[in-house]
Amino acid sequence: MLIDTYGRVATDLRVSLTDRCNLRCTYCMPEEGLQWLAKPDLLSDDEIVRLIGIAVTRLGITEVRFTGGEPLLRPGIVGIVERVAALEPRPQMSLTTNGIGLKRTATALKAAGLDRVNVSLDTLRPDVFKALTRRDRHQDVIAGLEAARDAGLTPVKVNCVLMPGLNDDEAPDLLAWAVEHDYELRFIEQMPLDAQHGWKREGMVTAGDILASLRTRFALTEEGVDERGSAPAERWLVDGGPHRVGVIASVTRPFCAACDRTRLTADGQIRNCLFATEETDLRNALRSDAPDEEIARIWRLAMWGKKAGSGLDDPSFLQPARPMSSIGG
Ligand code: 5AD
Ligand code: SF4
Repeated sequence: MLIDTYGRVATDLRVSLTDRCNLRCTYCMPEEGLQWLAKPDLLSDDEIVRLIGIAVTRLGITEVRFTGGEPLLRPGIVGIVERVAALEPRPQMSLTTNGIGLKRTATALKAAGLDRVNVSLDTLRPDVFKALTRRDRHQDVIAGLEAARDAGLTPVKVNCVLMPGLNDDEAPDLLAWAVEHDYELRFIEQMPLDAQHGWKREGMVTAGDILASLRTRFALTEEGVDERGSAPAERWLVDGGPHRVGVIASVTRPFCAACDRTRLTADGQIRNCLFATEETDLRNALRSDAPDEEIARIWRLAMWGKKAGSGLDDPSFLQPARPMSSIGG
């Protein structure tokens, strides 16, 4: 098992398949993009599948989520999903994507064994989408969402980050739209993980702001704590149900004590936290023919050193060197 000194057990593995992206969301990347990882530094499909195999068979991982950058930019993604689906025990598999590539890939991903998708969409207004992501691709995301639902990659969850002055007035419209289309909407508080280090706590839209805004149009009733478990989203029933809305309050109501995640970057580093400033290299062990048990040992050690919390509230908080796009959500 992947256990830490606070007794938390990681069962959920996030795998970043690439640090590249075809959008430039302002809370993530600068307009000009970033210095991408060099090809030889990226794990190969075989290396990724081997590491997931070790995680599933030796380390107690039951859930695998593929992230990026934009994971659908990785040419081998369908093959990776197919091979992970063949592992015993078969993990639950989901994908966090900006949705642009879903129209093209949803059916193949479902056939390969993917269970669900989370699609990022912050606005219903194409002009605001363009300002937020610096690309004119709103319609492609909408089409991708429909393709995912039609392919049965359900429940389709939609991740939304509200930015002050841009889309912070859209929460009720987004929820009405999500209910109408049968998507499960989740708002994520903006975190200090942008490459430009432009995050400011004072300006951010908080979970409290979001709930107040939603309540101007909907009756929200809190779901029981039992149902939340280690899921970071706190969920509310919308107008008595059955639809729900989630809020992931990483900044104002951190859930570090219940965290069950471990992360693998596209270049083979283990991160025991989104906000970790240190990483543990698995690629070197992989490429020097270390046996599975040795790799499992390094991974366990990496998780044993996991800190109690993100440190966001500590005056000495240091934003990690890696931006969100190369950590994965
Ligand atoms: N704060 C909060 N959420 C972020 N995401 C990307 N960067 C940030 C940030 N700085 C979101 C994306 C995606 C998920 C992986 O994380 O919108 O939905
Ligand atoms: Fe791309 Fe996601 Fe970053 Fe937006 S948040 S630029 S979609 S990696």
